[in-house]
Amino acid sequence: MRTKMSFSLLVLIVLAMMVAGCGAQQAAPTAKVEAIPVEEPTAKVEATTATEPTAEAEATTVEEPAAAEGGGWTMYSPDMLGGGTVLEDARPAGPLPEGCAVPEVKDKYLIGMSQANRAEPWREAMDSQIEAAAQEYPNFEVIFQDAAQDNADQVSDVENLLTQGIDLLIISPNEAAPLNEIVKEAWDSCVPVIVLDRNLVDPNYSMFIGADNVAIGQAAGQYAAKWCAENGREPCEIAEIRGLEGAPPAKDRGDGFRTGLQDEGLDPEQAIIFSQNADWLRERAVPAAAAAFQAFPDVDVLYGHNDPMAEGAYIAASDAGVNVADILFIGIDALPTPDGGIMSVLEGRLGVTFVYPTGGRQAIEWANLILTQHVNPPLWVVLPFDTVSPDKAQEVCNTFNCPGAQ
Ligand code: FRU
Repeated sequence: MRTKMSFSLLVLIVLAMMVAGCGAQQAAPTAKVEAIPVEEPTAKVEATTATEPTAEAEATTVEEPAAAEGGGWTMYSPDMLGGGTVLEDARPAGPLPEGCAVPEVKDKYLIGMSQANRAEPWREAMDSQIEAAAQEYPNFEVIFQDAAQDNADQVSDVENLLTQGIDLLIISPNEAAPLNEIVKEAWDSCVPVIVLDRNLVDPNYSMFIGADNVAIGQAAGQYAAKWCAENGREPCEIAEIRGLEGAPPAKDRGDGFRTGLQDEGLDPEQAIIFSQNADWLRERAVPAAAAAFQAFPDVDVLYGHNDPMAEGAYIAASDAGVNVADILFIGIDALPTPDGGIMSVLEGRLGVTFVYPTGGRQAIEWANLILTQHVNPPLWVVLPFDTVSPDKAQEVCNTFNCPGAQ
């Protein structure tokens, strides 16, 4: 008690000196602040309560935990965003429907991960990132389900996970409309839901994490238009191989691309001479692009909504005897794998691609915050993307440690 009292007295003196000297001189206070033992925050608060309300308020504000929300949720703080930005803020009442309690504190948490189609390399990377991130949380067990690009299968995957009693659902939906209802059911049953990469029709979930596909498409469109101008391609003929129509990124990447062309003075109506869906798949992109090169042998730019489809188009062009060196092939994903987009730019097949983060690691980090710390997350977190043009490809490869890293 005596130590506490004398400590309190010291704190009072120091605080009084700090308040008095505030704004006047800066030299002395630094040493004195450092002299306050950080281990004794309780004593500090007690010491100032009665006598120095002003100093107390100033001294304790920073030590308060983030404001507690209704229903036991604590508002997220910016340092939790891990490089992402907030597009839609947290719901004031928390990330679960009204009437749901905060998640129960447990020794073990079961997380269900419903993947749209693990056969696609980018999705395999997402699952691996989730798995690796979850290993850092010994109290997490993740059950993976793969719908193999079948909406009905993905609905039953989620039902199955709910039957197994998952504490939280992560889902990257194949298409928005067919998965909308089952996600709502999960969320309505008080299971927190984190949606990755492809959004749903309605935000009946705890949070959405993904990169801005309109912005990526726009960057691709600007790049294409500039390339045509710099290479004297007038008119500039563009063929587009689109992703699965019911998946929002396909629409966003298509719309953004058209805006990007317009930004650089190209009329998309005229420039885009061919547009076909290949469901995100390389094997479907080969015949689709073959049809494009047959009908329009002078294609200048081939825009694939993802790298596998752009690579499929490259194969089709080679098979058709088209001079591939004459065409700008654009993709999206930029995986740092041997056959991923970064290596493809380094090897000269793709002319440009864009790093599209999977959000796998972020999903696990937010799952931890939601389940174990009852953090109320933003409703929509946007992850950054990056352009992988030939002049930047080596640097990006080095950053992500791709096989060609130096
Ligand atoms: C894989 C994939 C990625 C793409 C993303 C869009 O299914 O097509 O290649 O970037 O999904 O949702």
